[in-house]
Amino acid sequence: MSIFFRQLFEPISSTYTYLLGCPETRLAVLIDPALPAWRRDLEAVRALELKLAYTLDTHIHADHITAAAQLKRETGSRIAAPAVNGLACVDVPVEEGTPLVAGSLSIEPLFTPGHTDDHHAYRLGERVFTGDALLIDGCGRTDFQNGDAATLYRSVHEKLFTLPDQTLVYPGHDYQGRRVSSIGQEKTRNPRLGGGRPLPAFVELMGKLGLAYPKFIDHALPGNRLCGVCPPGVPDDLQKYCEEMAQSAQG
Ligand SMILES: [Fe+2]
Repeated sequence: MSIFFRQLFEPISSTYTYLLGCPETRLAVLIDPALPAWRRDLEAVRALELKLAYTLDTHIHADHITAAAQLKRETGSRIAAPAVNGLACVDVPVEEGTPLVAGSLSIEPLFTPGHTDDHHAYRLGERVFTGDALLIDGCGRTDFQNGDAATLYRSVHEKLFTLPDQTLVYPGHDYQGRRVSSIGQEKTRNPRLGGGRPLPAFVELMGKLGLAYPKFIDHALPGNRLCGVCPPGVPDDLQKYCEEMAQSAQG
């Protein structure tokens, strides 16, 4: 299947946003758009002469605010997100077993909790958008938002590592400029989850990470429960998470 596809990088939170478009109907989906880059995302949609049908989030993010509500205001796109959260602002609650369809695109949600308890990866043909469950040579942390290392291990091994090895892995973030991997590659060499590391060793490893408290989480969670509202009280040094990216930063 030949689709329109763009991988877009938001540098403030190192978030990847994915633009998927149906060549026949021109309908498009944006996976995990981030608020500071909403105009850039919209320009990418327009440059390909697509119409934004849905925004689709993998989970309630702690490190950035989704642009779902802003893009809905601008384009009339519908907000799709995991049903398990029961958010009133979501137009299309998604769950495993029911694809999200936009023209010829049929995006398959895969319930992959562990990083958070609501996390879904999305599979479309030869690609899987793994959000924060599986990163390139890594994985999302498991110490907030009802995260659980054993649950993440099972999600990755049972839902993602069972996909064909050639499936392309597109992560929710990368902090070193890596853009794409494959299931086969992560299964073999992911230093946390690959190479046959057993579940207890993974749980021990995740328990010892000693990561700092996420600096934007207290603002991101309430903002994302409203599908992308910058909440009041965001301090000046964190305003960049709410505001449009400067022209020079736009890709
Ligand atoms: Fe996350």
